[in-house]
Amino acid sequence: MLLYIMGKKRKRKYSFDKTKKRKPDFDKTRQNRDGFDKTKKRKPEFKKSGQKKQSFDKTKQKFSKPKKEDINPNICFIKGKVATKNLTPGFRVYSELIVKKGNDEYRLWDEKKSKLAAAIKKGITHWNIPVGNKVLYLGIADGTTASHISDMIGENGIIYGVEFALKPVQNLLCIIKMHKRDNIAPIYDDAKLPGNYASIVSKTDLIYQDVAQKDQVKILLKNAKLFLKKNGMIMLALKARSVDSTKNPRQVYDDALDELKKHFRILDWKILDPFEKDHCFIIATKL
Ligand SMILES: C[S@@+](CC[C@H](N)C(=O)[O-])C[C@H]1O[C@@H](n2cnc3c(N)ncnc32)[C@H](O)[C@@H]1O
Repeated sequence: MLLYIMGKKRKRKYSFDKTKKRKPDFDKTRQNRDGFDKTKKRKPEFKKSGQKKQSFDKTKQKFSKPKKEDINPNICFIKGKVATKNLTPGFRVYSELIVKKGNDEYRLWDEKKSKLAAAIKKGITHWNIPVGNKVLYLGIADGTTASHISDMIGENGIIYGVEFALKPVQNLLCIIKMHKRDNIAPIYDDAKLPGNYASIVSKTDLIYQDVAQKDQVKILLKNAKLFLKKNGMIMLALKARSVDSTKNPRQVYDDALDELKKHFRILDWKILDPFEKDHCFIIATKL
């Protein structure tokens, strides 16, 4: 099968065990035509008796299959990566690959550049963000991850993106203006002071937070109290070294989870190594 990547035809390359019978072409990607992993429950394959265990590359873990009712039409799986349907075809936001499928254009989500993509790659569940959602994004930077969320929620959704560093805000403004990515509203402010933007931001379905600060959980709680709907969701990319560089990262994650459990129901969480060292990603809903 040929895929068009930025205008070039590339043949897929796969390494596989020639002694094993393989199913037709499409199964080699371990996805079906709808993009979901039918083989999710398969354990790593081992060769027959007397042969060595195959090495299992932890960076190539499979996607967790979303529930059918949760499938967002702006998501698909291509070449072992999650991809989002480009809201602004013809433009890319960072160095992501673009793949054409019929009349649509998909942006491959790079797990080395986005913590949400890394969490998905590590098998986190409940990561779908439905079309039309309102999102408060704390620490939006120049919009790498936010651009994929912007694709997912589509033109009727909105991302309020808070960022206190000037340069990334300027870059983000350029992207929004040049690409006409109109569902992102940047807010040049400090996420520690949510009162400053309370007149702009309405109640949101999701708060995404990636600010790499000592008091990350406190910042999240402050914002959630003001802006998150009942049963709304939080996604937290927690950087252990920013919270306490002297503590074992695992202890930092456990402390954060204990604090969050007072206000949220934890749906899932994953440690992001090796994609992001000493980070974990937590998904929860407001109680
Ligand atoms: C790791 S980067 C975010 C990357 C981005 N989430 C992505 O995946 O594309 C963290 C960002 O948070 C911003 N930040 C840190 N503390 C903040 C605060 N208190 N208020 C607003 N932005 C903050 C930093 O300036 C930086 O751009």
